[in-house]
Amino acid sequence: MAEPLLAVDDLDVTFRVPDAFGRQTRTVHALRGVSLHVDRAEVLGVVGESGSGKSTLARAVVGLNDPGRGTIRVDGRPLERKRGAAAHAGLQMVFQDHASTLNPFQSVGRSLDEVMRQARPNLGRSERAVVAARLMERIGLGADALERRPSGFSGGQRQRISIARALGAEPRLLICDEPTSALDVSVQAQILALLEELRAGGLSLLFISHNLAVVRQVSDRIAVMYAGRIVETGPAADLIRVPAHPYTAALVAAAPVLVERGSLVARTRALRSGDGGSASPDGCAFAGRCPYVRPDCARMPPLAEVAPGRLARCHVPFAATPAAESPAVP
Ligand SMILES: Nc1ncnc2c1ncn2[C@@H]1O[C@H](COP(=O)(O)OP(=O)(O)OP(=O)(O)O)[C@@H](O)[C@H]1O
Ligand code: SF4
Ligand SMILES: [Mg+2]
Repeated sequence: MAEPLLAVDDLDVTFRVPDAFGRQTRTVHALRGVSLHVDRAEVLGVVGESGSGKSTLARAVVGLNDPGRGTIRVDGRPLERKRGAAAHAGLQMVFQDHASTLNPFQSVGRSLDEVMRQARPNLGRSERAVVAARLMERIGLGADALERRPSGFSGGQRQRISIARALGAEPRLLICDEPTSALDVSVQAQILALLEELRAGGLSLLFISHNLAVVRQVSDRIAVMYAGRIVETGPAADLIRVPAHPYTAALVAAAPVLVERGSLVARTRALRSGDGGSASPDGCAFAGRCPYVRPDCARMPPLAEVAPGRLARCHVPFAATPAAESPAVP
């Protein structure tokens, strides 16, 4: 079987956080045993609430966060942990905050040229200029945009320029971390349309957002994160129509646009109030909020197959789904 384009296996990332007196005392487990893959020409959406570890995952994949454990492979080959290795392997990242990508003192053209010079050294200056002009057309801006600085553009245009800059490197996988979160809804739609176009052209994406409706729009498969772990993965349409994990069900229920489109989470109960902490340190991290919690949830559920092509980390998968609609649970 062909190796996936990106394979992340058992990734752990921890941070040491100083206490109020500046001492390094507390350890934050941002990622715990995260495994996932992205195939060629596939869009994997990653969704989860704030602090669930989405950005840490993206940053670890491109080498900006150091994993304490685990492996990252591209085409089956381990990604080296050195500067530039991710770009060399064909990975590019688009951040929520385009200010961190675009140098305000540099023209857009110069910014694009820089990334192309590094990633595609066999292109000559005039060839790079042609590619840059084409990229500007592709994102709906004229070639004259190359002469201007980022401050001359709106937030949505700057985000499109960030995407064009990443595309200048001819990436095999584009990692987008909340690319639309800082934008107005109408501008979000333009960015999503651009990403859908890229997807139709065969580009692979790892698309991260806290907004399930947005993730649904662009993704073939979805991975749901909670407290640093993957709690569910599956084909986007199936996962939203019949969620297996109570947390996914709660996310679906909270997205009216998805419920209206025929999701079957009719039995989703209200989440219990709580801080999301686990009832037991070794148990399910969602237990503090889960309406279906039971005694064996004090034991950590494995991420196990619950239906063909679907994994969930729950002792009671499909609890929130009407029984008649639930896939057969082995
Ligand atoms: N550089 C860092 N130093 C210390 N803690 C960090 C650092 N980066 C992330 N964390 C912590 O790791 C956890 C996961 O954070 P992360 O930013 O990955 O979450 P997220 O899912 O991207 O959230 P959001 O939706 O708010 O962007 C959080 O508890 C966060 O406070
Ligand atoms: S394992 Fe238990 S607490 Fe965790 S999501 Fe499933 S039912 Fe809820
Ligand atoms: Mg984030």
